[in-house]
Amino acid sequence: MVTLMTYENIIKRRTIRKFKQTIVPEALLIKCVDAARLSPSAMNRQPLEYLIVNEVGLLEEVFSTTNWAGLLPEYFPTKKEMPRAYIIILLNKKISQSCGHDCGIAAMAISMVAHDEGLGSCILGAINRSALRKILRISGQYDIMLAVALGYPAEEPMTDEVQNGNTEYWLDKEGTLHVPKRKLDHIIGWNKIGH
Ligand SMILES: Cc1cc2nc3c(=O)[nH]c(=O)nc-3n(C[C@H](O)[C@H](O)[C@H](O)COP(=O)(O)O)c2cc1C
Repeated sequence: MVTLMTYENIIKRRTIRKFKQTIVPEALLIKCVDAARLSPSAMNRQPLEYLIVNEVGLLEEVFSTTNWAGLLPEYFPTKKEMPRAYIIILLNKKISQSCGHDCGIAAMAISMVAHDEGLGSCILGAINRSALRKILRISGQYDIMLAVALGYPAEEPMTDEVQNGNTEYWLDKEGTLHVPKRKLDHIIGWNKIGH
């Protein structure tokens, strides 16, 4: 395996919503959680815990609680492209009532380690939380923050430059997803604003 630097991995990673049906080794799922475990946490409280879902019988049930690519209603995994695992990020409210930015950092750590290991991922915020809570028997002690869907990628989305301020991702005629990113000189400032 070629070892790439963090920057290269970050710019190459794109959200994956179509997966091969190859099983994801449990050791890789644990490695993803381990990266989240060691990520920055405000006041080092570490209120997040992680539920790994990889049981075949549960995958479809969990899928039914998720929503994919809100901007493209026709674009979601078919039965043969389903995620092969999920990592559900939970807030343990006995430790803290809120988790601030920890959750996004943890989701990114999971996504990046997954990417390093050849896996694709999709961070999922649009979840039917009450349904998921029932399916996975998650008690009231926990808030469901985010889920990360995982599997070996079965698509190769492209990174584009934003045109005319439009950040909406889109599908071309071949079904390839294009993800426009804002230009560096449109988002970067130096020192005082307006200089
Ligand atoms: C907090 C958060 C929640 C997201 N929720 C969803 C979701 O519910 N469903 C989905 O398909 N994608 C979701 N995404 C993925 C974004 O749509 C994706 O990151 C964005 O289109 C940019 O694509 P990229 O990750 O390839 O850069 C989420 C991303 C983040 C950071």
